Amino acid sequence: MNQQNKLSLESYKGTRDFYPEDQFVQNYIFGVWRKVAEKYGYLEYNASILEEAALYKAKSGEEIVNEQTYTFIDRGGREVTIRPEMTPTVARMVAQKRKELAFPLRWFSIPNLFRYERPQRGRLREHWQLNVDMFGVESIGADLEIVSVAYDIMKAFGAKDESFAIKINSRKFLNFLMDTFLRLNGQQAHQISKLLDRMHKISGEDFIAQAKEILGDDSKVEALATITRIKNLDELPEEVKAHESVAELKSFLARMETLGIKNAIFDVSLVRGFDYYTGIVFEVNDTSPANPRALFGGGRYDDLVGIFGVEKVPGIGFGMGDVTIRDFLETYSLLPSYESIVDLYICKFDESFAGFASQLASDLRKEGINAAVDLTDKKVSAQVKTADRQKIPFVLVVGEEETKSNKFKLKNLSESKEIEVSREDLAKTIKSLES
Ligand code: HAM
Repeated sequence: MNQQNKLSLESYKGTRDFYPEDQFVQNYIFGVWRKVAEKYGYLEYNASILEEAALYKAKSGEEIVNEQTYTFIDRGGREVTIRPEMTPTVARMVAQKRKELAFPLRWFSIPNLFRYERPQRGRLREHWQLNVDMFGVESIGADLEIVSVAYDIMKAFGAKDESFAIKINSRKFLNFLMDTFLRLNGQQAHQISKLLDRMHKISGEDFIAQAKEILGDDSKVEALATITRIKNLDELPEEVKAHESVAELKSFLARMETLGIKNAIFDVSLVRGFDYYTGIVFEVNDTSPANPRALFGGGRYDDLVGIFGVEKVPGIGFGMGDVTIRDFLETYSLLPSYESIVDLYICKFDESFAGFASQLASDLRKEGINAAVDLTDKKVSAQVKTADRQKIPFVLVVGEEETKSNKFKLKNLSESKEIEVSREDLAKTIKSLES
């Protein structure tokens, strides 16, 4: 092969290779996610990465569908999309089996998702996302539980309350603001939602200038600006405060506080990109500027199952990405250090001990030890070095003396310590030294 068409060593742009040490971190993150979701009684489900493109066109949101999906025509002429999110899929699954499923459902999943984005910190083209969703409950108790799961996941990772903030808003409230309070037409409402979404990324003057361009009317710009300045729901103008969505938001925030969640705040600029949200929306952010992306977000979507032409099933949930949570855990030094899953590396003095070494490994595996045998003809010192480089905690060498006495010098590589252990005590000793 000449230089020109040499195959690239890089993974496809915006995707990651998981070498064992990366996979270790990934498994840790997935483990915490799964443990907390299961503690709350959520059941795991899964689906294919391929869906008909029409699924996303129906209700996801223009940016994701027009600019971010990987869509292709299959050999049968069907338009297919590689899933950019899991919510439409889970809604489809719920709609399909709605007659058999025992509601309310508490479901979770950890799918890999693909979005054609410009790769940058916290944003890649492939990420894994914990999805925790509940179906069949309209009351606010479901919203509270979903946010509690999210909060408990952060605590299970060791995060402190002051390291993250839970921003809360409500689509009902935003709709009321746009339609009734500001009396905007559909296009203006859409543009103002996008502007609110960008609010913290632009200056106050730019916000006003852009709002003027969209609304034209100075009094509406002023009314909007007043609302965006408030930090607390009690500061809202009287006619806004009277709306039922404000009472709902207030009671939601108060009940979170009684659950011990004190880092939740109302944020009028929180819109969230998807068209399907209908009620409470929330997003969790790192409070450190080093990691500005949302760690996760979600909300209530009571009309999504209905798009399949079946009776309405209310839904609420969130998605938490592995890229952003990993950045967060790194920022706060909360990631565990790598540990090999191999407990013991068995080296041999020479090839004549191969049979003994493999029998010993096989016996130890039955006793619950993950044992690997060196199969090379390298010198003993090089074999031990392999174990060390692979961060395997224990090694022993099989030679003449060991086969005769059935006693082994068990070496703890991290401490450079060696102890003599009889065959019967090997597994027990390794386990007790590891714990
Ligand atoms: P989303 O806000 O698009 O929501 O994504 C949720 C989280 O996934 C984000 O906060 C971020 O952590 C992560 N994420 C999204 N895109 C990327 C990317 N390109 N690279 C890295 N991480 C990313 C949803 O997807 C909703 N379907 C969540 C949901 C579930 N709502 C209700 N249930």
